[in-house]
Amino acid sequence: MDKFLIKGGAPLRGKIEISGAKNSALPCLAATLLSAETVILHNVPYVKDLITQRRLLEDLGATALTPELRTHKITAKNIETFEAPYELVKTMRASVLALGPLLARFGQAKVSLPGGCAIGTRPIDLHLKAFEQLGATVSLEAGDVVARAPKGRLVGANVSFEKVTVTGTENVMMAASLASGKTTIHNAACEPEIEDLADLLNKMGARIKGAGTSVIEIEGVEALGGAEHTIIPDRIETGTFIVAAAITEGELEIKNCAPAHLTAVIEKLREAGVEIEELNPTTLLVKCCPNGLTAKDVTTEPHPLFPTDMQAQYMALMTQAAGVSTITETIFENRFMHASELIRLGAKIDISGNTARVSGKTQLMGAPVQASDLRASASLVLAGLAASGETLIDRVYHIDRGYENIVKKLGNVGAKIERLTESLALAAEDVK
Ligand code: EPZ
Repeated sequence: MDKFLIKGGAPLRGKIEISGAKNSALPCLAATLLSAETVILHNVPYVKDLITQRRLLEDLGATALTPELRTHKITAKNIETFEAPYELVKTMRASVLALGPLLARFGQAKVSLPGGCAIGTRPIDLHLKAFEQLGATVSLEAGDVVARAPKGRLVGANVSFEKVTVTGTENVMMAASLASGKTTIHNAACEPEIEDLADLLNKMGARIKGAGTSVIEIEGVEALGGAEHTIIPDRIETGTFIVAAAITEGELEIKNCAPAHLTAVIEKLREAGVEIEELNPTTLLVKCCPNGLTAKDVTTEPHPLFPTDMQAQYMALMTQAAGVSTITETIFENRFMHASELIRLGAKIDISGNTARVSGKTQLMGAPVQASDLRASASLVLAGLAASGETLIDRVYHIDRGYENIVKKLGNVGAKIERLTESLALAAEDVK
């Protein structure tokens, strides 16, 4: 398994470009299953999860071409099977996003029930309940979710989610696009990725209103056509690099981003003392922090409030802030795995239930640490950049799922970070 070796202490300075949003590209790729015509997606990030999602489409029978590295041309004309197998779903739970499109277009779908992951059990019961409200029969057969539309076509309905679910909202929006009649989703997720998916679906001929708010209305249509669409910038990658500038007391110009998609993050970081200036609608200038950082409490909530996907990165930053900050995680039940690794680097963090109390400022000292999930990995990279000495991060395959070229992007702005492949990593350990 690859590792990252980071020599901390260098302030980051320069320009960094944001890639397309992983969590928009994943549902958008799944949406191509809704049409027999070609859909072209631009600005798809070159990350592991998208390679996996693309392979799923090809396994189902779609043709996937990549005229350029970040452009995918998908034609789901000859879909031969309606099954997403376990060995694929277990590596990436976003494969469940194939359920809605397959069920809507072909009246059937079989997707392995995704297991939990490091951050929580992550059930999909709300997705399945919504499909039943749209007229589907759903059963569990040997670990697979088997969904069928008995009349061959789903029927529009009023769907009200008891909990906000991002991919649940996306699955239902896609399924309802081809249902007969109108569907209204209440308590829908409001993330920018939902709006981006709705933009693509409407370009394909869907009739969706209200995406980005908690009530989304979908008028089902008979069929969807082809389209061309550019994926929005990744707001979590943006937030991660803002923290990178702050935690290394550097200065970064962050390009190709969408500040409007992470206002809660920007507000909170400004409160803590990070200087963030919007140079233009797609560029941020981040400086830190002549008067140092101040500890500020945060609670994760559904969009537009502070995103759970920035919680681990924020915790790393708070180790460098003066005072005690309380970080409350309300979305996932086990999303503090990075805390114990940060403590190995010298952080002072007390966990009690879904609350972490971080006492700063502490001088972090490099050490070997282990990544447990995508955003925890980012948190360890950020801490390693701030720590004195060397930090060796194991299991960096987690970070490769959602951050495009992070070693190159950080290296280009002065970070001393290198990827050690398996053999090299063993050698480094021998040296330690
Ligand atoms: C999406 O996951 C994102 N992934 C996650 O990003 C993100 O953390 C999460 O939304 C919350 O914002 C993608 O978009 C591919 P949820 P999702 O359904 O849709 C519970 C990253 O780091 N729930 O909004 O799976 C669930 O257990 C990843 O990029 C049910 O109980 O999250 C959780 O506690 C990590 N039943 C809460 O709701 C359901 O049927 C929110 O989950 C569905 C969800």
